[in-house]
Amino acid sequence: MSKEILKADTTPPPYQTLGIVGTGAMGRGIAQIAAQAGLTVYLHDLRDGAIDEAREFIGGLWDRGVQKQRLSETDAERFRASLKEATTLADLAGCDIVIEAIVEQLEAKQTLFQQLEEILDDRAVLATNTSSLSVTAIASACRRPQRVIGFHFFNPVPLMKIVEVIPGLRTSDDVTDRVEALGKAMGHFTARATDTPGFLVNHAGRAFGTEALRILGESVTDHATIDRILVDQGGFRMGPFTLLDLTGLDVSHAVMESIYHQYYEEPRFRPSPLTRQRLTAGLLGRKSGEGFYRYVDGKPEVPDEPPLPDASPRPVWIGAEADEAKAQLADLVRGAGWALENGPGPSADALCLVAPLGEDATACTLRLGLPAERCVAVDLLAGLDKRRCLMTTPATLADYRNAAMALLSHDGTPVSAFSDSNGFVLQRVVACIVNVGSEIAQQGVAEPDTIDRAVELGLGYPRGPLAMGDHYGSRRILAILDNLLAATGDPRYRASPWLRRRATLGLRLTTP
Ligand SMILES: NC(=O)c1ccc[n+]([C@@H]2O[C@H](COP(=O)([O-])OP(=O)(O)OC[C@H]3O[C@@H](n4cnc5c(N)ncnc54)[C@H](O)[C@@H]3O)[C@@H](O)[C@H]2O)c1
Repeated sequence: MSKEILKADTTPPPYQTLGIVGTGAMGRGIAQIAAQAGLTVYLHDLRDGAIDEAREFIGGLWDRGVQKQRLSETDAERFRASLKEATTLADLAGCDIVIEAIVEQLEAKQTLFQQLEEILDDRAVLATNTSSLSVTAIASACRRPQRVIGFHFFNPVPLMKIVEVIPGLRTSDDVTDRVEALGKAMGHFTARATDTPGFLVNHAGRAFGTEALRILGESVTDHATIDRILVDQGGFRMGPFTLLDLTGLDVSHAVMESIYHQYYEEPRFRPSPLTRQRLTAGLLGRKSGEGFYRYVDGKPEVPDEPPLPDASPRPVWIGAEADEAKAQLADLVRGAGWALENGPGPSADALCLVAPLGEDATACTLRLGLPAERCVAVDLLAGLDKRRCLMTTPATLADYRNAAMALLSHDGTPVSAFSDSNGFVLQRVVACIVNVGSEIAQQGVAEPDTIDRAVELGLGYPRGPLAMGDHYGSRRILAILDNLLAATGDPRYRASPWLRRRATLGLRLTTP
C-alpha cells in the first residue's frame, strides 16, 4: 500500500455510499479518492459511454499504481469493485450523499437536485462541486435546502489535497460537519468557508494575475520578465502569465470577470482589458498554441533575458532611508569593490541608489532632493539574494542605469531593469495578494490559518497570504499599499482594515 495512492488518514468516512453525477475531469477524480477511502461509489452521466470511460481511466491509474508497487493488487481489485454504474438517476436511490460535477450552469444543477430530491432518502446529502455558482442559489430550488452543500475539489482531484466545504445560508451544521469529516476521510485538507463569490481559494487568487496584468498594461516591463521576477524573487512556482497560458484565457478571463461582477465591481478584482482582447483574438494559451507565450511542441518559447550592458565602476551614494536597506546596499557596493560615498549628499558623478516601498523612482528621488539623471531604485522587499530588480526615472541617464545593472549583477545574480512603477513588480503583486487575503479574513470567509493553508494547497503559493504579509513585514506591505493608493488614487490599493490594524499594532496577520 502506498502513501501516494492511499490516504494517510484512517478515520472512517461518515457515509458508506456515494453517488457521483457527471464523470468528467472532476467527477472521476472524486470517484477515485472516494473508492480509496472505502466508499461504494455509484457513477452516473448523461452521455453514453461516459461511465465506462471514467471507470477505465480510474482503473488505469490503479493499474499503474500496482505496476509501480505503490498499491497492492488486492487493494486495486477492492477499489475497482467499489465503482458501480448508475445507469439512471433512480439507481442512486440508496446513496447517503450525491456529489454533482456536471456542467457549470445554475439551472442544470437546480434541476438535477430537484430530481434527486424525488429519488433519495430525506437524510441524504446533496453536494455540489461548483466553482463559481452560489451554493445558496442552487439550494434555493430544493425542498430541503438544509441538506445542500458546496464540496469544491480542485483539478486534478487526487493530487490537489484540498477541498472547500461551503455551507449555503440554510445548510444544517450537522450536514456541514459530516461532509467535512468525509473530506478528511478522503485524505484532503478541508477548508470550511462561507458561500461567497469564488469561495476561499479562487477569491484569494484574484490578485496574482490581475496585478501582473496591470503592470504589463502600464508597460512597466514585458510578461516574461514579470514571470521571472515572481518566480525568482517571490518563490512562486510559476509566473502569472505562464499560469494564465496553462489555464487558458477562455477559463481565466471568465473567472476574473465573474468574481469582479459578483462583488459589485470591487476594484481589487478589476480584470484587465488586455485579456478580453487576447481572448477575442483566440490567443487562449497552451491549448490554442499561443497565449502570452508561443508554444512549439507543447513547450513555451521564452525570450532570452536582455544582455547586460558593459559599465565601469563609479562612486555610489546610497539614498535609501531605512537603516536595514542602507546596510544591504552598502554590503552590495563593498562586495563589488566599488567606492561607497559617505558624505551628506552625492558627489558630482556618483550613482544614487534609493529603495522605495510602493513609491516610484521619480517620486522617491524628488522627495529626497536627489538628481533624477543619476538615480536608480532597487527593490529590497525580498532582499538581494536572488534576482535583483531596478527601475529608473524617465530622466535617468543610460550610463547610470548601466552602471547600476553592472553593480547589481557583479556576482552573477540575475538582474531585471524596467521603467518606473509604483512598487516595482514583486512589491505590487505581493501587497495585492496580502491585501486580498486580509480582506477575506476581515469578511470572515474562513479562519486565518485556514486561509493560509488553503492558498498554499489550492494555489501553490510559497506561503498563504497572511503568512506572506508577516514574512515580508506587514508594515512594509501597508506602506506599499498606502503609497500606491496615494500615487494612483485607485481604490484597488486601499488597505484592508484587517491588515492596517494588525500592522499598526505590531500583531501577526494571522491574529484572529
Ligand atoms: N475542471 C476544473 O478544473 C474544475 C475545478 C473545480 C470545479 N469544477 C466544476 O466541476 C464541475 C464539472 O467540471 P468538469 O471539468 O469535470 O467538467 P467535464 O465537462 O469534464 O465533465 C462534466 C460531465 O458531466 C456530464 N453532464 C453534464 N450535464 C449532465 C447532467 N445534467 N446529468 C448528468 N451528467 C451530466 C457530462 O457528460 C460530462 O461527462 C463544474 O461545475 C465545474 O465548474 C471544475
